[in-house]
Amino acid sequence: DIWETPRALRQLIKSHVQDGKIKIPGLQTPLPKCHGLGGQTPLQILAACSESQVSEKGFCNRLTVIGCGTSWHAALLAEYQIETMARIPVESQYASEFRYREPTLRTGDALVVVSMSGETTDAVEALRRVRSSPNGNSVLTIAIVNEMDSTLARECDVALDVCAGTGIGVASTKTFSATNMVFVLMSLALADECGQIAGRENLIQKLQELPDSMQEVLDKEAKPLVTDVGDRSIEIGECPLWDIGCQNVLARNFIFLGRGFNFPVALEGAMKCKELAYIHAEGYPAAEMKHGPIALIDEFMPVVVICPKADASYEKIKSNIEEVRARNGATIAITEKHNHELEQICEYVIGVPETHEYLMPLLAILPLQLLAYMMGILKGNTVDHPRGLVKSVSVK
Ligand code: G6P
Repeated sequence: DIWETPRALRQLIKSHVQDGKIKIPGLQTPLPKCHGLGGQTPLQILAACSESQVSEKGFCNRLTVIGCGTSWHAALLAEYQIETMARIPVESQYASEFRYREPTLRTGDALVVVSMSGETTDAVEALRRVRSSPNGNSVLTIAIVNEMDSTLARECDVALDVCAGTGIGVASTKTFSATNMVFVLMSLALADECGQIAGRENLIQKLQELPDSMQEVLDKEAKPLVTDVGDRSIEIGECPLWDIGCQNVLARNFIFLGRGFNFPVALEGAMKCKELAYIHAEGYPAAEMKHGPIALIDEFMPVVVICPKADASYEKIKSNIEEVRARNGATIAITEKHNHELEQICEYVIGVPETHEYLMPLLAILPLQLLAYMMGILKGNTVDHPRGLVKSVSVK
C-alpha cells in the first residue's frame, strides 16, 4: 500500500488541478433545493465559515471535521491545512467523542466526516446524530472516503473520493496520504473562493512535483532486497531505515515529535509504530516534550523528530533535539536532504526532498510508515493484518 502512494496522489492531482485551477465537482455543484441550504454550492457554504463572514446574528458558521484512528489524524491535519491556507477556523474531534456530545451545530455550519472505509460506526452515528438534530437539514455534511459505495458516502450531502484504490493492509497508509491530499485541494479551492492565497503559484508547482518526491523517498529508503530471517524470507535492503529498524526493533517505547503541520504526522507515526510493530509509542507537539515526556528520555528511548529546515520553528525543534541528546536519547530526524547540520546532533538523519511547508507532512509520513512496517517485519508480525485490528470497526 505504501508503494502505491505516489501513483494514487499523481492521479488525484491530475484529475483535480487543471490549468492551475482546482476542480472538485462535489464542492462546486449547488445543493438540491430540498436541502435547507439548497441552491448554494458547498464551497460557498464553507467559505461562509471564514472569520470575515459574520452573520446577521453576530456569529461565524463553524466547520467541524471528525474521524477515528488514522482518519482523526487526517482531520487534525485538515485543521491546520484549512486554517492556514483558507483562513477558516476548523475544529477537529474524535467521531467517537463527538457522537455522544450534544450537537450544537447551527444552520449553515458544516460537518466533514473522514473515514477510509465509510463504515466506521462511531463516524456514521455521529453523522446521524447531527442529521436528526433540529437543524439537521440545514447543516452541510461532507464525507471524505475511500469507498464511494459506503454508508457515509450515501448519507452525506456530498462525498469526496480519495481515490487511493483498495488497500491490502488493515492499517491505513496510502489512504492517509490521499486524504491529506484531498484536504490540500479542498483548502486551495476554499482559498480561491475566499480570496487569493499568498504564493499560490509556487504551492501548485510544488504540488505537481510531490509524487516524484514521494517516489524518491521510497526508492532511497526502502529499496527491497530479499534475505532470510529465521525460518522466513523477508525483504530487507541496505537503506538507512532498515538499519534504524534493526537498531530499535527491541525498544519498548518510542516518542514522535513534530510541530504545526507535522504534529499530526507525529501522532500518525506513533500510531503506525503501535499498529505494525507492536511497540508502545506516543506522539507529541515537540514543545510539549518539556511538560512531561522529557522525564522518560534515556538511552533506551528512541525519539523520532520531524524537523524540516523550512519550518518557522526549526531552531526551537533543534533545541528539543539537544535536550534529548543531553539525556542520552537516540534521535532520528526527518529533514530536507540538503540539510546536513542535524547530522552532528542526531543518531540518524533521514533526508527527504525539499517541498512547500504545507506539503511536508506528505513526505515526512513515508519514512515513519516504512520504519513501522520494517520493525513489524523484523519482529515477524503480520503487518497487513495486525492483531486486534479490523478494517472497519462496526462495534456499536
Ligand atoms: C480501525 C483501523 C484503523 C483506522 C480506523 C478508522 O480501527 O484499524 O487503522 O484508522 O478503524 O477507520 P476508517 O475506515 O473510519 O478510516
